[in-house]
Amino acid sequence: MFNVVLIKGDGIGPEISDAVVEIFESAKVPIEWVERQAGLNAIDKNPTGIPEETLEAVEKYKVALKGPTTTPVGIGHKSVNVTLRKTLELYANVRPAKSLPGVRTRFDNVDLIIVRENIEDTYGGIEHHQTASVAQGLKLITRPGSIRIAKYAFEMAKLYGRKKVLAVHKANIHKITDGLFLKCFYEVAQDYPEMQVGDLIVDNACMQLVTNPERFDVMVLPNLYGDIVSDLCAGLVGGLGVAPGGNIGDHCAIFESVHGSAPDIAGQGIANPMALLLSSFQMLQHIGLQKTKTRIENALLETLRDGIKTRDLGGKANTKEFTKAIIERLVPMEIDELIEPSPLRIKSELLPTYKPVEEYCHGVDIFVEYPGGIPKVPETVGNLKLKMISNRGTKIYPGPMPKIWLVDHHRCRYVARDETGNYKNIGDNEIFDLIREVSAYGIKWVHIEKLQLFDGELGYSKAQGE
Ligand code: NAI
Repeated sequence: MFNVVLIKGDGIGPEISDAVVEIFESAKVPIEWVERQAGLNAIDKNPTGIPEETLEAVEKYKVALKGPTTTPVGIGHKSVNVTLRKTLELYANVRPAKSLPGVRTRFDNVDLIIVRENIEDTYGGIEHHQTASVAQGLKLITRPGSIRIAKYAFEMAKLYGRKKVLAVHKANIHKITDGLFLKCFYEVAQDYPEMQVGDLIVDNACMQLVTNPERFDVMVLPNLYGDIVSDLCAGLVGGLGVAPGGNIGDHCAIFESVHGSAPDIAGQGIANPMALLLSSFQMLQHIGLQKTKTRIENALLETLRDGIKTRDLGGKANTKEFTKAIIERLVPMEIDELIEPSPLRIKSELLPTYKPVEEYCHGVDIFVEYPGGIPKVPETVGNLKLKMISNRGTKIYPGPMPKIWLVDHHRCRYVARDETGNYKNIGDNEIFDLIREVSAYGIKWVHIEKLQLFDGELGYSKAQGE
């Protein structure tokens, strides 16, 4: 028997959760539910919408199935999902998109899995106003995070008999951040010689997905592209009503449908439980109950082939009728309901994520606020020489002034070189001197970034040095 935490959520959550519980009971799935609350109906226990006992149960039992929870707009608690994801370090968001019989779409043979990195990228929410008219968000891509998600994607692909793993990125533009993601992907790929590997730029991937989605198998993406592309893929196979997902970490995993709490239809008994049921299939696979999963999946596919669907998919069945139809199509269980394949557990602490490297700081970008054209900053301070000034990434000094709009936020790049023209290492005091000197010129500095070289190991590209 497996203990699984059941969080029914709010809105249509309880209706669709009850449908899954009923199907599991009829299928005699060896799972004992441990019910806990989250969302609107748990606010009296904890203003975050996540009572301590819910968190403790997920940590203790390691696997949870969760119905949708409402996030109040503008007021109240943060998204329960985001909080759970971050608190429990659920780093992999796994979203399969598979064509289903009777669900009308433009394509018939889509069967792909999106593996989205779930913690990093711009989702750290590290954002600042730089000037009154310029805001900045930091996109953080890390080597451990990228190795871990690539490893997860390959391990999952191997375990589920997939053939091809594709990294999706924008490393042609984000050379350092996405470049690092891609570098880590190919590093991990070396351990899976049996797998076909490749990479695609995200815009090209989107175009190919909407024209020829059948050619895709497993895709691994940084957080933001993963968020967008996974919804695109949900659209390819019939929309949110059939889109499942799992948020998976080293220690625990939460499976839930992609759609929300659908307050417009809550309590009417017409919600489609399919996305939560598909999420429960992912959960069964995760804990190793592959045969049980296939048996219930076959009953669902039979139901759909027989034209029984809920209203959101153009059918007439309500939640209970649809659930009953699936139960009626369950074939009797075989005695040897074997546990296979082995559960998918990837321990990131075992992964070789850090490499000792030598670090060099050879310069600094100092960002300044200056509303009146090119800021008049010093040309030289100690070893540091002004190399260029850019505005929104376009060089405006030295050389001809491009015909661009100037905002009041400039990046002034200073680098240090030795007599032979090679980069020279600098210390913090030289940077402090530079900041003081810029201030003395009457220019307001906003922030600085060190220009660092890591022995060529960590995704350094010319873009940073130039
Ligand atoms: P939603 O996904 O709840 O609803 C969008 C539309 O799809 C509605 O017309 C709804 O009736 C329909 N729909 C959704 N699921 C359905 C189902 N299973 N069967 C039939 N029709 C279905 O998105 P919305 O309205 O933007 O969000 C409502 C609330 O849910 C918000 O508070 C939002 O923050 C929350 N939410 C929670 C999620 C979660 O807990 N995983 C995910 C997304 C949103």
